[in-house]
Amino acid sequence: LQLLAAIGVLAYGIGSVPFGLLLTQLGGAGDIRAIGSGNIGATNVLRTGRRGLAAATLLLDGGKGAFAVLCGFILSPFHTAPAMAVAALCAVIGHCFPIWLKFKGGKGVATGLGAALALSPLAGLACCALWLGVAKLTRISSAGALAAFVALPVLLVLLDGGPRGPIPLAGLLIAVLVIARHHGNIRRLLNGTEPRIGRKTP
Ligand code: G3P
Repeated sequence: LQLLAAIGVLAYGIGSVPFGLLLTQLGGAGDIRAIGSGNIGATNVLRTGRRGLAAATLLLDGGKGAFAVLCGFILSPFHTAPAMAVAALCAVIGHCFPIWLKFKGGKGVATGLGAALALSPLAGLACCALWLGVAKLTRISSAGALAAFVALPVLLVLLDGGPRGPIPLAGLLIAVLVIARHHGNIRRLLNGTEPRIGRKTP
């Protein structure tokens, strides 16, 4: 249990690195929290017009989710499933509530997708495909994210050995967290004011 707690803290630390904020500041694009939706994720970085920074944010935020799960796998050789599940959940919590930003972080989409890919490559790939597909179809990033995370627990159950065990539970908790973080987006989607991808915002 102590090892699981240590893995959780480590994963939280990994997840809490705010790559979107760091990259936009280092890249001279200003404070991302003052732009567009104010979110620190790749979708909002794209609103600065800096496609390279947005792609790097997506990859690094996704990478930290996968890396945290990998750390759980390596550090807990005898209980890999609970360790990976704890690491995945804590990485997403770290991204959403980073101590460095007074717990005001992102929405957990890229980090959750990276963690899902590492937990279950098949379910993770299906989620990424759904996210990209719906986002491309609707041109609304949050619509893709919501579709992917509604599907994540279902896909983990269908493609990764059934409903029992820590991994589908982590998938469910991550989905609840990511969807809850999109409450503002859901409101805008319902009243038709959610912005489309690629609109540059001053
Ligand atoms: O990655 C988060 C995305 O689903 C929504 O981002 O900036 O449009 O609120 P944003």
